[in-house]
Amino acid sequence: MKTKTAVIYATMYGTTEKAAKYIAENLSTEVDLIPLDKKNINLANYDTVILGTSIHMGVVLGQMKRFYKHNLEELKTKTLGLFICGMEPNLDRQNHELNTAYPPELQQKAKAIAFAGGEFLFDKMNFFQKTIIKAVTKNDKNVSQIHYDVLDHFISQMNKP
Ligand SMILES: Cc1cc2nc3c(=O)[nH]c(=O)nc-3n(C[C@H](O)[C@H](O)[C@H](O)COP(=O)(O)O)c2cc1C
Repeated sequence: MKTKTAVIYATMYGTTEKAAKYIAENLSTEVDLIPLDKKNINLANYDTVILGTSIHMGVVLGQMKRFYKHNLEELKTKTLGLFICGMEPNLDRQNHELNTAYPPELQQKAKAIAFAGGEFLFDKMNFFQKTIIKAVTKNDKNVSQIHYDVLDHFISQMNKP
């Protein structure tokens, strides 16, 4: 059977979508790029599944949590890749976010796992989000810190036979 990959992502402002697209464009298999708001994702069509979500206030987006809880048994049968987008600067806390983003049984099975960086896009945030980020970062300018080097490594791991 020919390998087919689903890159399934949840995003609030579009950053995880950028990372998911970058991954999808560079995989060596046939790929479907699937936003989680799409209904009826048929996992049976794929032997490889990559999940990506951003982290907000320490937790993954609810859409992604619901998706992997609902599909846990089927996901465990796939070749897996897992990534998160976030702006946490501290390495230990990035690792903590990664370790808690996805269930241990998916992490154990994953061929590649990555903290892919992120962006602060103030024009897309609501008032409360802007206030929080301004207070925490002491800055109100857009910042783009997607870690393309980390994504390249993730992609090369996923492309290994
Ligand atoms: C209100 C708010 C809370 C956030 N909390 C976290 C966090 O706890 N950890 C983190 O790594 N990044 C955090 N971020 C950064 C986001 O993960 C980052 O903006 C990411 O690129 C968003 O991706 P998305 O557009 O795909 O949702 C936060 C951003 C906002 C606006």
